[in-house]
Amino acid sequence: MPSREFEIKNDDSLEVEPIASTISLIVGNALLVLVIAVMVAVICNTHPDYTHRFDCGPDRDGVDKATCERRGCIWSWPIKSGPPACFFPPNGYITYNMTDISPYPWGYRVQLRKRTEMPDFFDGGLETLWIDVELQTKYRLHIKIYDPENKRFEVPISLPRRPLIAAEDPLYNVSVTEEPFSFQVIRTDTNTVVFDTSVGVMIFEDQFLQLSTKLPSHNIYGFGEHAHDDFRRDLNWKRWGSFARDEKTEGTANLYGTHPFYLCLENDSNAHGVFLNNANGQDVSFQPNPALTYRHIGGVFDFYMFFGPTPEDVISQYTEAIGRPYFPPYWALGFHLSKYGYNSLDKVKEVVARMRMYNIAHDVQYGDIDYMDRKRDFTIDDQRYGKVAFKDFVKKIKEEGTKYIVVLDPAIAANETTGTYRPYDDGVEKNVFIHDENGEIIYGKVWPVYPGLRIDDSKPWDFQIKTYRGYVAFPDFQRKQTKEWWIREVVDFHDKIDFDAIWIDMTEPANFLDGSVNGCSKNKYDYPPYHPHIWGETMADQTLCMSAIQNLDEFNTTVHYNMHNLYGWSQTMATLRAARAATGKRSLVINRSTYPGSGKYSGHWLGDNFSIWLHMRRSIIGILDFNLFGIPFVGADICGLFLDVTEPLCRRWSQLGNFYTFSRNHNGLIYRDQDPAAFGREYAEEMKKLLAIRYTLLPYLYTLQYKATAYGHTVTRPLMFEFTSDSETWGIDRQFLWGPGFMIIPVLEEGAGSVNAYIPKARWYDWYTGREIDRENTGRWINIPASDYHIPLYIRGGQILPTQQPANSTKFSRQHPFGLIVALSDSQSAVGTLFWDDGTSVDTIENGEYYKIEYVVCQGSNLTANISNSYGTLLDNLRLDTVKFHGLITSPSVVQLNSVALNDSQWTFNDVTKTLNITDLQHPMSEQFLLSWH
Ligand SMILES: *[C@@H]1O[C@H](CO)[C@@H](O)[C@H](O)[C@H]1NC(C)=O
Ligand SMILES: *[C@@H]1O[C@H](CO)[C@@H](O)[C@H](O)[C@H]1NC(C)=O
Ligand SMILES: *[C@@H]1O[C@H](CO)[C@@H](O)[C@H](O)[C@H]1NC(C)=O
Ligand SMILES: *[C@@H]1O[C@H](CO)[C@@H](O)[C@H](O)[C@H]1NC(C)=O
Ligand SMILES: *[C@@H]1O[C@H](CO)[C@@H](O)[C@H](O)[C@H]1NC(C)=O
Ligand SMILES: *[C@@H]1O[C@H](CO)[C@@H](O)[C@H](O)[C@H]1NC(C)=O
Repeated sequence: MPSREFEIKNDDSLEVEPIASTISLIVGNALLVLVIAVMVAVICNTHPDYTHRFDCGPDRDGVDKATCERRGCIWSWPIKSGPPACFFPPNGYITYNMTDISPYPWGYRVQLRKRTEMPDFFDGGLETLWIDVELQTKYRLHIKIYDPENKRFEVPISLPRRPLIAAEDPLYNVSVTEEPFSFQVIRTDTNTVVFDTSVGVMIFEDQFLQLSTKLPSHNIYGFGEHAHDDFRRDLNWKRWGSFARDEKTEGTANLYGTHPFYLCLENDSNAHGVFLNNANGQDVSFQPNPALTYRHIGGVFDFYMFFGPTPEDVISQYTEAIGRPYFPPYWALGFHLSKYGYNSLDKVKEVVARMRMYNIAHDVQYGDIDYMDRKRDFTIDDQRYGKVAFKDFVKKIKEEGTKYIVVLDPAIAANETTGTYRPYDDGVEKNVFIHDENGEIIYGKVWPVYPGLRIDDSKPWDFQIKTYRGYVAFPDFQRKQTKEWWIREVVDFHDKIDFDAIWIDMTEPANFLDGSVNGCSKNKYDYPPYHPHIWGETMADQTLCMSAIQNLDEFNTTVHYNMHNLYGWSQTMATLRAARAATGKRSLVINRSTYPGSGKYSGHWLGDNFSIWLHMRRSIIGILDFNLFGIPFVGADICGLFLDVTEPLCRRWSQLGNFYTFSRNHNGLIYRDQDPAAFGREYAEEMKKLLAIRYTLLPYLYTLQYKATAYGHTVTRPLMFEFTSDSETWGIDRQFLWGPGFMIIPVLEEGAGSVNAYIPKARWYDWYTGREIDRENTGRWINIPASDYHIPLYIRGGQILPTQQPANSTKFSRQHPFGLIVALSDSQSAVGTLFWDDGTSVDTIENGEYYKIEYVVCQGSNLTANISNSYGTLLDNLRLDTVKFHGLITSPSVVQLNSVALNDSQWTFNDVTKTLNITDLQHPMSEQFLLSWH
């Protein structure tokens, strides 16, 4: 973490006071402080600090001195890399004057006028701006900066509307500085300034919006979607672009989704969140003051701020605004298996058979694009899969307990003989496809291939695109007729294959050509004056022309330039409706390109990774990020997509992936098999045991998913969310929690036989042995042995985890006896919840169609089960068989269930681990109980 030791207000001159105060805290000796302050000042004059420089030349090719000075900025080469050479004069660059401020019932409105002296940055600042400040709730603030004279593009996701009256007693306060104009947002009870635009410069041009804020700490989490190395963002002059892109998870690429949201942990451990609801092409720059600068190429500044004060509160408040996470069906929490390029039904059968042979849990099998005929949606390769045989196979594995998910891409094959491919013919007739700027269908190329060709996958990529790939058209999912058309195709396809859910890929939308089959015209959207810090030569790189025309909503059209980052979001909404119409069940959509609000409709996987140790490690960060983004049903491809995985990597990755909420092993086209049964008997037996742990904990995991949907809680939780006041946890991203109660410490290094882990101060019980971690070893880093097939797992004192005897799929595990793991805290207390519904119906939470049981041990010697919601016969024939207590002080002499003593064969006490192990209870799950001991 970069340390904030001093800060410079004016160019190259030191402000000494903060040094003195920082150091005095440490040393507490006035004389020494003075000496050190002088020494630092001397050192810093020779190595001046540049953190106050706000970039005035963010242009893709940089700027020269002349351009820099024309913009009214200062040109001076820094002596180290990172800080910009062209920067705004501190305090001397004012873009807007405040002309009015008037109160409104819900807050107030500030009016701004562009200063006459303001130089054009790119296409010239807008003359008038309004800032609406809405005190929406006690903890949520909305600030919108927009042009009152011309309606600009605004993101069509649904967000809370302005309240009738301003919230009373909010946790925040907004203050406005008139000259030079800036605004500050303050946390009232601590006076922490959480957002402060007095640094940098606000620019609001038609195609370039910029705003900087000084940050109250270096603890910034979020912004996406990127593959990055630290969950806590590195603020040392880093710049990240966001623009939906079909890209491997390499380097600093802007990946599939766009999430302009961050969570900040203030230095006193209060947390707040900031969501800038702007879907245009964008980048964000971090600098070590700390500060950040937003740059967007359209839309408006539409900020929502959330004041927690805990990190978990912030996420709950954020998802309340953008939409609570989707509630996956129970089976979706089981193990998923996938590969691109089984290439035949026989191969799929072979893999399923060996999973069965070892009786390894297998809840979901996938079909990637190789099940399709010439990779066209809604078709089946009759030669390699056989229409009838494939249908029969899916029916059979479903009867055995394995669900089936098919992939669908948005792009629709367009080079078919009329009358042979309904999705295209009908789509043209109903006008469902995106148009080019002249109103014709815009074509690209994706996977679908021309009819009548022999495909050689080993040919170079460019050759394949040119020779094999036919034209494709892109549905515009914001049109009513497109949704209807898509739903009909999905429902009809369900007659051919009885799939349970849909995986949508390539939703950026990906295009193997840049723009279209004809490229793009020279226009202001494809060649904007400011090209954000994203990959690709042009904006249309690997996607559609920015000038393409699509719908904003039912009635209005706009350019793809504005809608690009929302394409996956719009397809997800339509696809969930389609999946439900087809299956009649809750179903599931797994989607690649997301925007805030996507979590309401889908889960996500982290995209096209590699079978390398680095990508395994980074998957934790990606998963934590998506828990911030309101998409807790998320995972990475276990064992990696590209490259042949090694057995040791696949083993460790399977251990980690066993604790992804979306736990899927997915493999690429030409790579060695990596399913759990692919590495021989010993490996397979170990995989079976590993998955048995997951399946044992599924009632706990499902309850966490319920809490995410009902209350907006995270599921996969960073340590700092639970141990927020312990600053040691703030940077931890190699271990994580499931909810509050279960800690996972994966081995992430090749060849390692142990793992270095931080154990926060609490009681922790080893999952395998029940042994408590020594108190002296908490609140510090310890080394934990972890042989090849071992992943360290701990249960936290104070928590009760509902469990169920595992099986080879949730179809069977759901019928098995339940258990409880009661991990006692110091005060001999613990709490836990079980949520239980039928696992597949739509809206069970909304309709109250579930059981909810609260388990409590309160400083004592009894455990109660209270049913706070019940529904129908859901729990009939299910029983509670085992209860395991960790952390008792002494062995009880009597254990009673509802005042009836258990017989001696029903319980044992382990004196070494202090574990009370109760078995064979046979208590009906639908009945409350009191279990006591003394
Ligand atoms: C804005 O404020 C500055 C400084 O007070 C003043 O010189 C200028 O006339 C004002 N108005 C405009 C439109 O620039
Ligand atoms: C909020 O800020 C305004 C302007 O600085 C100030 O007048 C007001 O007293 C503040 N309110 C609270 C509750 O701090
Ligand atoms: C799964 O386990 C059940 C018993 O729990 C067994 O009846 C069934 O045959 C197994 N399924 C497969 C496909 O092996
Ligand atoms: C594919 O379709 C497009 C659009 O209709 C057409 O222009 C092109 O010639 C077709 N290509 C082939 C090989 O049929
Ligand atoms: C259960 O434990 C609580 C807390 O120790 C105690 O107040 C209560 O009396 C106990 N109930 C029974 C029936 O033992
Ligand atoms: C609990 O008891 C059961 C049945 O006796 C046994 O199989 C199991 O291993 C015991 N567990 C522990 C943690 O002692």
